Amino acid sequence: MKDFLEFFGFRDNPFKITPDAHYFFLSESHQEALLSLKYLVDSEEGFAVIIGEPGTGKTLTVRKFIDDLPEDVEFAYILFPNLSPEELFEAILEDFGIKTEGETKNRIFTKLRDHLIEKRSKGKRVLIIIDEAQNLPVETLEELRILSNLETNDQKLIQIILIGQPELEEKLESNALRQLRQRITVITKLRNFTEKETRSYIDYRIAKAGTGNLRIHPKVYKLVYKYSLGIPRLINILMERSLMAAFVDGTHEIKPEHLERAAESVGIRVSKDRGRSVLTYASLFAVLLVTGYLGYVFFISQPETKAPVYEAPVQATPQTTDQIRLVTVEVPLLNVRDRPSPDSKVVYVLREGDRLEVLQEGPDQWIKVRFPEKGITGWVNGKYVSW
Ligand SMILES: Nc1ncnc2c1ncn2[C@@H]1O[C@H](COP(=O)(O)OP(=O)(O)OP(=O)(O)O)[C@@H](O)[C@H]1O
Ligand SMILES: [Mg+2]
Repeated sequence: MKDFLEFFGFRDNPFKITPDAHYFFLSESHQEALLSLKYLVDSEEGFAVIIGEPGTGKTLTVRKFIDDLPEDVEFAYILFPNLSPEELFEAILEDFGIKTEGETKNRIFTKLRDHLIEKRSKGKRVLIIIDEAQNLPVETLEELRILSNLETNDQKLIQIILIGQPELEEKLESNALRQLRQRITVITKLRNFTEKETRSYIDYRIAKAGTGNLRIHPKVYKLVYKYSLGIPRLINILMERSLMAAFVDGTHEIKPEHLERAAESVGIRVSKDRGRSVLTYASLFAVLLVTGYLGYVFFISQPETKAPVYEAPVQATPQTTDQIRLVTVEVPLLNVRDRPSPDSKVVYVLREGDRLEVLQEGPDQWIKVRFPEKGITGWVNGKYVSW
């Protein structure tokens, strides 16, 4: 790595994938997200929500926001929130430096409330930030709403930020959470970079790392956008690998062939007759392979939602073959669950184009299916298949 950085004259790896606020690039969408968080702190609102597909910069945006928080704001940051209400409150207390040992839920709640009252009396504002919030059980979300109701002298004791993948939004729309939903005034969505933003983002990160002596062939920007669809994490992976490829070739210029090699090395099929969607799936999958630490979160909780670039699948008459109805997966990845609910266990992850047999139609558009290729049976959300 040192040789490679020296070769290009960089101080630092410009495309590392760990979220480092020093590299924060203010795209329109990221700016909107930051402003919505700042607004929450300045207002008397209870909740702010940020939604984004994997790798679009949710965690980095929050890091940036935390870095810029005023002195009088204290916060707890929770990253793995697949927790019961007690466990979550314990984790929050722990983040505030308060120990709990085998105490009852009520006792934990009281401790947290007392802590918040004490902070308020000292003129502090308190924030709870929950990343990967799509993993919060419905019951825990409901308890968070109750927590957010706490007030003293008409002042809120706490404000809560939920950050998550699109499954979070789906969860918030469920009937059980309608009261919480009413408390959320704005849901901000992070979107992929445009082609122009992709270009500026690449140049910006290189400049931050020290510019060095790197040249980029003009066609490379277009290709990066084509293969990454403007998802920052994928841009970083493609650019880092392209730099490596140029380094191996002993050149200071990234050429289209380096980028093609990079794309292939992370599993993106660089074939012209395959559609954009195949690239999207491969890209997302590649991200997860390369950024191993996210794999767990992804396979356990990847939402049954579509990437924003897709149109809603057209509902038409089911295709019938000897009484077996076949449907096709229309999104890059689709979870098969053991029950017809987004809270149930994921038993398998289907890919776009997988063909399924419909066994039964359930509530809220859920369908029970069998995936003949693997002999797997389970429930999928019927919104994401074409009939
Ligand atoms: N606005 C941005 N400026 C600079 N880098 C960014 C930006 N957005 C994303 N990135 C980079 O993209 C990568 C992924 O970002 P991040 O981890 O924040 O995504 P995420 O939305 O939290 O993904 P996940 O849903 O998998 O947790 C990181 O390397 C991050 O530095
Ligand atoms: Mg994240």
